[in-house]
Amino acid sequence: MPKAPHGPFRSGDRVQLTDPKGRVNTVTLQPGKLYHSHKGSIPHDEIIGSPEGSVFRSSGGTEYLAFRPLLADYALRMPRGAAVVYPKDAAQIVTMADIFPGARVVEAGAGSGALTCWLLRAVGEHGMVSSYERRQDFADIARANVETYFGGPHPAWRLTVGSLEDVLTDTEVDRVVLDMLAPWECVDAVAKALIPGGLVCAYVATTTQLSRVVEGLREHGAFAEPYSFETLLRSWHVEGLAVRPDHRMVGHTGFLVTARRLADGVRPPARRRRPAKGATEAAAEGVTPDPSPSAEDPTPMD
Ligand SMILES: C[S@@+](CC[C@H](N)C(=O)[O-])C[C@H]1O[C@@H](n2cnc3c(N)ncnc32)[C@H](O)[C@@H]1O
Repeated sequence: MPKAPHGPFRSGDRVQLTDPKGRVNTVTLQPGKLYHSHKGSIPHDEIIGSPEGSVFRSSGGTEYLAFRPLLADYALRMPRGAAVVYPKDAAQIVTMADIFPGARVVEAGAGSGALTCWLLRAVGEHGMVSSYERRQDFADIARANVETYFGGPHPAWRLTVGSLEDVLTDTEVDRVVLDMLAPWECVDAVAKALIPGGLVCAYVATTTQLSRVVEGLREHGAFAEPYSFETLLRSWHVEGLAVRPDHRMVGHTGFLVTARRLADGVRPPARRRRPAKGATEAAAEGVTPDPSPSAEDPTPMD
């Protein structure tokens, strides 16, 4: 298991050195080595033994602030095969998919292993994350990233190479998290793996994928009504009287869908909501009136 990321810097730790312009370089501390930049060098031995949040001056006189990277920093900077889940979405997945300490979680595809790290942190040593990845080259990248992050193999992690819908062997799992092109192809396999009351969460990039996965979950019959949402993160510039949203933001990452597994043999209750205008051809032609705004559920709890 990883060394706890606190206390003075140790040999083998990754350290983020941030220069006065906010440029970040990550180094792995090794006794006797030097960190080199065009602003001069800093001996690793000066950093080893210092508390986090220390400032080091390079031989060229530039000051660098030193912290261990947070998982959000690591996930955005680690080597990639496939695109990674952004930290804002990983946060939503951990919360809205209700990933808890000790949970048994299936994940596909593992991609670059970013979401795997968040899931492993959430389930802890006594949980289980069983990741599936159809591409061997991406699985190798995911394994390297996860093991680098945790400082070695994680006792709660298993990685299987193959397409989830063909090779899923886990049963009695609490949660399934899908980040892949066609999650609707996995709905039946996921239904077989989940316990009653379990939850599937799919992360998709486009509205067409969103539609297909939601309709696929509904048609399957083993799931309660899916809940679909996205989050937008807007950072702020706060300086004196200039307090405003930053001019730039990441406008789109993906959509999330969650759905609970029903008990075997239970049919989902008939939907009481009338189809929204445009949901079907008949509704689009005005045969079915729009539901009143109060009939729309603001959250899946209501
Ligand atoms: C967007 S990436 C996942 C990124 C990952 N969540 C992360 O944060 O690093 C999607 C991955 O799903 C894999 N994939 C697609 N369909 C799959 C399937 N049916 N079973 C397993 N893996 C699949 C792809 O090879 C790709 O690596």
